[in-house]
Amino acid sequence: MLEKIRETADFLKSRIKHSPTIGMITGTGLGSLTERIVTDFRLPYEEIPNFPKSTVEGHRGVLAAGKLAGKSLIALEGRFHLYEGYSPQEVTFPVRVMASLGVKYLLMSSAAGGLNPQFERGDLMVLTDHINLKGTNPLIGPNLDEFGPSFPDMSQAYPPDLIRLAGKEAVHLGILIKQGVYVGVLGPCLETPAETRFLRMIGADAVGMSTVSQAIVGVHCGLKILAIVVITNMNLPDCMGKTSVADIIDASRQAGPALSDLWERIIGNLPDV
Ligand code: HPA
Repeated sequence: MLEKIRETADFLKSRIKHSPTIGMITGTGLGSLTERIVTDFRLPYEEIPNFPKSTVEGHRGVLAAGKLAGKSLIALEGRFHLYEGYSPQEVTFPVRVMASLGVKYLLMSSAAGGLNPQFERGDLMVLTDHINLKGTNPLIGPNLDEFGPSFPDMSQAYPPDLIRLAGKEAVHLGILIKQGVYVGVLGPCLETPAETRFLRMIGADAVGMSTVSQAIVGVHCGLKILAIVVITNMNLPDCMGKTSVADIIDASRQAGPALSDLWERIIGNLPDV
Protein backbone atom coordinates (compact mmCIF):
# COMPACT_ATOMS: atom_id res chain seq x y z
CA MET A 1 0.00 0.00 0.00
CA LEU A 2 2.67 2.46 1.10
CA GLU A 3 4.81 1.61 -1.91
CA LYS A 4 1.92 2.22 -4.30
CA ILE A 5 1.12 5.56 -2.66
CA ARG A 6 4.75 6.62 -3.03
CA GLU A 7 4.94 5.42 -6.64
CA THR A 8 1.84 7.42 -7.62
CA ALA A 9 2.96 10.50 -5.68
CA ASP A 10 6.40 10.37 -7.36
CA PHE A 11 4.79 10.01 -10.79
CA LEU A 12 2.67 13.14 -10.18
CA LYS A 13 5.47 15.08 -8.48
CA SER A 14 7.60 14.80 -11.60
CA ARG A 15 4.83 16.52 -13.61
CA ILE A 16 3.61 19.15 -11.15
CA LYS A 17 5.09 22.64 -11.59
CA HIS A 18 3.81 24.24 -8.38
CA SER A 19 3.53 22.17 -5.20
CA PRO A 20 -0.14 22.05 -4.25
CA THR A 21 -1.39 22.95 -0.77
CA ILE A 22 -5.01 22.22 -1.66
CA GLY A 23 -6.59 18.97 -2.74
CA MET A 24 -10.08 18.99 -4.13
CA ILE A 25 -12.49 16.15 -4.88
CA THR A 26 -15.72 16.66 -6.80
CA GLY A 27 -18.38 14.18 -7.73
CA THR A 28 -21.67 13.67 -9.52
CA GLY A 29 -22.32 16.36 -12.11
CA LEU A 30 -19.82 18.74 -10.54
CA GLY A 31 -16.99 18.42 -13.06
CA SER A 32 -17.61 22.05 -14.12
CA LEU A 33 -16.12 23.17 -10.81
CA THR A 34 -12.64 22.34 -11.95
CA GLU A 35 -12.97 23.92 -15.40
CA ARG A 36 -11.82 27.21 -13.90
CA ILE A 37 -8.43 25.83 -12.94
CA VAL A 38 -5.55 27.18 -14.98
CA THR A 39 -4.08 23.76 -15.49
CA ASP A 40 -0.50 22.61 -15.64
CA PHE A 41 -1.89 19.28 -16.79
CA ARG A 42 -4.96 17.08 -16.83
CA LEU A 43 -4.63 13.34 -16.74
CA PRO A 44 -7.34 10.69 -17.10
CA TYR A 45 -7.20 8.25 -14.18
CA GLU A 46 -6.24 5.44 -16.59
CA GLU A 47 -2.90 7.16 -17.16
CA ILE A 48 -2.04 7.47 -13.47
CA PRO A 49 -0.26 4.45 -12.01
CA ASN A 50 -2.26 2.57 -9.34
CA PHE A 51 -5.32 4.81 -9.70
CA PRO A 52 -8.65 3.01 -9.78
CA LYS A 53 -10.92 3.87 -12.72
CA SER A 54 -14.11 5.87 -12.22
CA THR A 55 -17.05 3.84 -13.46
CA VAL A 56 -20.00 6.04 -12.57
CA GLU A 57 -22.26 8.10 -14.80
CA GLY A 58 -21.66 11.82 -14.20
CA HIS A 59 -18.11 11.26 -12.90
CA ARG A 60 -15.29 12.13 -15.27
CA GLY A 61 -12.22 10.48 -13.82
CA VAL A 62 -9.65 13.20 -14.50
CA LEU A 63 -6.93 14.61 -12.28
CA ALA A 64 -6.14 18.29 -12.85
CA ALA A 65 -3.18 20.16 -11.38
CA GLY A 66 -2.76 23.92 -11.60
CA LYS A 67 -3.87 27.19 -10.08
CA LEU A 68 -7.20 28.60 -8.99
CA ALA A 69 -7.62 31.99 -7.31
CA GLY A 70 -3.84 32.24 -7.16
CA LYS A 71 -3.43 29.00 -5.17
CA SER A 72 -1.79 25.80 -6.33
CA LEU A 73 -4.08 22.86 -6.18
CA ILE A 74 -4.72 19.36 -7.35
CA ALA A 75 -8.27 18.40 -8.22
CA LEU A 76 -9.91 15.07 -8.76
CA GLU A 77 -12.92 15.23 -11.04
CA GLY A 78 -14.75 12.08 -10.13
CA ARG A 79 -14.28 9.98 -7.04
CA PHE A 80 -14.41 6.31 -6.24
CA HIS A 81 -17.19 4.74 -4.20
CA LEU A 82 -17.46 1.58 -2.18
CA TYR A 83 -20.59 0.64 -4.13
CA GLU A 84 -18.50 0.36 -7.31
CA GLY A 85 -16.80 -2.59 -5.65
CA TYR A 86 -13.63 -0.83 -4.53
CA SER A 87 -12.19 -1.49 -1.11
CA PRO A 88 -12.22 1.32 1.48
CA GLN A 89 -8.45 1.59 0.94
CA GLU A 90 -8.83 1.98 -2.83
CA VAL A 91 -11.56 4.59 -2.44
CA THR A 92 -9.30 6.72 -0.26
CA PHE A 93 -6.03 6.05 -2.11
CA PRO A 94 -6.10 9.47 -3.86
CA VAL A 95 -6.37 11.25 -0.48
CA ARG A 96 -3.18 9.51 0.69
CA VAL A 97 -1.49 10.46 -2.58
CA MET A 98 -2.54 14.10 -2.18
CA ALA A 99 -1.27 14.16 1.41
CA SER A 100 2.04 12.73 0.14
CA LEU A 101 2.24 15.61 -2.33
CA GLY A 102 2.12 18.07 0.57
CA VAL A 103 -1.54 19.02 0.42
CA LYS A 104 -2.84 20.57 3.67
CA TYR A 105 -6.49 21.24 2.80
CA LEU A 106 -8.99 18.70 1.53
CA LEU A 107 -11.99 20.34 -0.14
CA MET A 108 -14.89 18.16 -1.24
CA SER A 109 -18.19 18.60 -3.01
CA SER A 110 -20.81 16.04 -3.88
CA ALA A 111 -24.50 15.42 -4.29
CA ALA A 112 -26.65 14.56 -1.29
CA GLY A 113 -30.26 13.87 -0.45
CA GLY A 114 -31.89 16.38 1.91
CA LEU A 115 -33.31 15.01 5.19
CA ASN A 116 -33.83 18.28 7.04
CA PRO A 117 -37.35 19.43 6.09
CA GLN A 118 -36.18 23.04 6.03
CA PHE A 119 -33.90 22.28 3.09
CA GLU A 120 -34.88 22.53 -0.57
CA ARG A 121 -33.61 20.87 -3.73
CA GLY A 122 -30.70 22.92 -5.04
CA ASP A 123 -29.55 24.14 -1.61
CA LEU A 124 -25.89 24.05 -0.69
CA MET A 125 -24.97 22.59 2.70
CA VAL A 126 -21.62 22.86 4.42
CA LEU A 127 -20.81 19.86 6.58
CA THR A 128 -20.44 20.52 10.29
CA ASP A 129 -19.97 16.82 11.03
CA HIS A 130 -20.65 13.37 9.65
CA ILE A 131 -22.00 9.98 10.66
CA ASN A 132 -20.25 6.97 9.16
CA LEU A 133 -22.97 4.45 8.37
CA LYS A 134 -21.10 2.67 5.61
CA GLY A 135 -20.53 -0.42 7.70
CA THR A 136 -16.79 -0.21 7.17
CA ASN A 137 -13.85 2.09 7.77
CA PRO A 138 -10.91 2.93 5.50
CA LEU A 139 -8.50 2.74 8.46
CA ILE A 140 -9.15 -0.97 9.05
CA GLY A 141 -5.90 -2.91 8.86
CA PRO A 142 -2.34 -2.15 9.90
CA ASN A 143 -1.98 1.55 10.70
CA LEU A 144 0.02 3.61 8.23
CA ASP A 145 2.15 5.29 10.92
CA GLU A 146 3.78 7.57 8.32
CA PHE A 147 0.42 9.33 7.90
CA GLY A 148 -1.16 9.35 11.34
CA PRO A 149 -2.09 7.63 14.60
CA SER A 150 -3.98 4.36 15.09
CA PHE A 151 -7.00 5.94 16.73
CA PRO A 152 -7.41 9.38 15.16
CA ASP A 153 -9.50 11.88 17.07
CA MET A 154 -12.70 12.80 15.20
CA SER A 155 -14.00 15.48 17.60
CA GLN A 156 -13.42 18.19 14.99
CA ALA A 157 -13.19 16.58 11.58
CA TYR A 158 -14.54 19.72 9.89
CA PRO A 159 -12.68 22.69 11.40
CA PRO A 160 -15.03 25.54 12.47
CA ASP A 161 -12.77 28.22 10.98
CA LEU A 162 -13.27 26.72 7.53
CA ILE A 163 -17.03 26.40 8.06
CA ARG A 164 -17.06 30.09 9.02
CA LEU A 165 -15.02 31.00 5.96
CA ALA A 166 -17.55 29.18 3.73
CA GLY A 167 -20.41 31.06 5.40
CA LYS A 168 -18.67 34.40 5.05
CA GLU A 169 -17.87 33.93 1.37
CA ALA A 170 -21.41 32.70 0.66
CA VAL A 171 -22.79 35.90 2.22
CA HIS A 172 -20.36 37.92 0.13
CA LEU A 173 -21.71 36.27 -3.03
CA GLY A 174 -25.35 36.44 -1.92
CA ILE A 175 -25.57 32.63 -1.91
CA LEU A 176 -27.74 30.99 0.73
CA ILE A 177 -25.81 28.22 2.44
CA LYS A 178 -27.15 25.75 4.97
CA GLN A 179 -25.15 23.83 7.56
CA GLY A 180 -25.66 20.32 8.79
CA VAL A 181 -24.64 16.77 9.52
CA TYR A 182 -24.02 14.40 6.61
CA VAL A 183 -24.60 10.71 6.96
CA GLY A 184 -22.57 8.49 4.65
CA VAL A 185 -24.33 5.31 3.50
CA LEU A 186 -23.04 2.50 1.34
CA GLY A 187 -25.52 2.64 -1.54
CA PRO A 188 -25.92 2.10 -4.41
CA CYS A 189 -29.69 1.96 -3.93
CA LEU A 190 -31.37 5.03 -2.54
CA GLU A 191 -33.07 4.88 0.84
CA THR A 192 -36.49 3.54 1.71
CA PRO A 193 -38.90 5.80 3.62
CA ALA A 194 -38.20 3.82 6.83
CA GLU A 195 -34.45 4.20 6.38
CA THR A 196 -34.92 7.89 5.66
CA ARG A 197 -36.89 8.35 8.89
CA PHE A 198 -34.13 6.51 10.77
CA LEU A 199 -31.38 8.70 9.25
CA ARG A 200 -33.25 11.85 10.26
CA MET A 201 -33.84 10.49 13.78
CA ILE A 202 -30.14 9.81 14.33
CA GLY A 203 -29.36 13.43 13.62
CA ALA A 204 -28.52 13.73 9.94
CA ASP A 205 -29.51 16.64 7.72
CA ALA A 206 -28.31 15.12 4.45
CA VAL A 207 -27.43 11.66 3.14
CA GLY A 208 -24.95 10.58 0.51
CA MET A 209 -22.72 7.76 -0.67
CA SER A 210 -19.39 9.56 -0.62
CA THR A 211 -17.27 12.03 1.39
CA VAL A 212 -17.14 10.15 4.70
CA SER A 213 -14.40 7.64 3.83
CA GLN A 214 -12.24 10.37 2.29
CA ALA A 215 -12.84 12.62 5.32
CA ILE A 216 -11.76 9.87 7.73
CA VAL A 217 -8.52 9.32 5.83
CA GLY A 218 -8.08 13.09 5.50
CA VAL A 219 -8.28 13.42 9.28
CA HIS A 220 -5.85 10.55 9.66
CA CYS A 221 -3.41 12.40 7.35
CA GLY A 222 -3.87 15.64 9.35
CA LEU A 223 -5.67 17.48 6.53
CA LYS A 224 -8.05 20.37 7.19
CA ILE A 225 -11.36 19.41 5.63
CA LEU A 226 -14.16 21.49 4.17
CA ALA A 227 -17.05 19.79 2.41
CA ILE A 228 -20.03 21.40 0.71
CA VAL A 229 -22.80 19.26 -0.76
CA VAL A 230 -25.58 20.07 -3.19
CA ILE A 231 -28.99 18.93 -2.00
CA THR A 232 -30.06 17.29 -5.25
CA ASN A 233 -33.29 15.74 -3.97
CA MET A 234 -35.43 15.97 -0.86
CA ASN A 235 -36.08 12.81 1.14
CA LEU A 236 -39.03 13.26 3.46
CA PRO A 237 -40.18 9.91 4.85
CA ASP A 238 -43.90 10.74 4.92
CA CYS A 239 -44.01 11.93 1.32
CA MET A 240 -41.14 10.21 -0.47
CA GLY A 241 -41.02 11.05 -4.14
CA LYS A 242 -39.12 8.95 -6.66
CA THR A 243 -35.51 9.99 -7.27
CA SER A 244 -33.59 9.24 -10.44
CA VAL A 245 -29.87 9.57 -11.11
CA ALA A 246 -30.76 11.91 -13.98
CA ASP A 247 -32.53 14.23 -11.49
CA ILE A 248 -29.51 14.14 -9.18
CA ILE A 249 -27.07 14.96 -11.98
CA ASP A 250 -29.38 17.69 -13.25
CA ALA A 251 -29.61 19.39 -9.83
CA SER A 252 -25.83 19.13 -9.40
CA ARG A 253 -25.21 20.74 -12.77
CA GLN A 254 -27.64 23.55 -12.00
CA ALA A 255 -25.81 24.28 -8.76
CA GLY A 256 -22.43 24.14 -10.54
CA PRO A 257 -21.93 27.86 -11.33
CA ALA A 258 -22.85 29.12 -7.82
CA LEU A 259 -20.83 26.38 -6.18
CA SER A 260 -17.84 27.17 -8.41
CA ASP A 261 -18.07 30.87 -7.51
CA LEU A 262 -18.16 29.91 -3.84
CA TRP A 263 -15.21 27.52 -4.03
CA GLU A 264 -13.17 30.04 -5.95
CA ARG A 265 -13.67 32.66 -3.24
CA ILE A 266 -13.06 30.16 -0.45
CA ILE A 267 -9.84 28.97 -2.08
CA GLY A 268 -8.67 32.55 -2.64
CA ASN A 269 -9.19 33.26 1.05
CA LEU A 270 -7.83 30.07 2.62
CA PRO A 271 -5.12 30.98 5.10
CA ASP A 272 -1.63 29.94 4.03
CA VAL A 273 -0.35 26.91 5.91
N1 HPA B 1 -29.41 9.26 -0.98
C1 HPA B 1 -28.11 8.87 -1.01
N2 HPA B 1 -27.20 9.47 -1.78
C2 HPA B 1 -27.60 10.50 -2.51
C3 HPA B 1 -28.92 10.95 -2.52
C4 HPA B 1 -29.86 10.29 -1.71
O1 HPA B 1 -31.06 10.63 -1.67
N3 HPA B 1 -28.98 12.01 -3.37
C5 HPA B 1 -27.72 12.19 -3.86
N4 HPA B 1 -26.89 11.28 -3.35
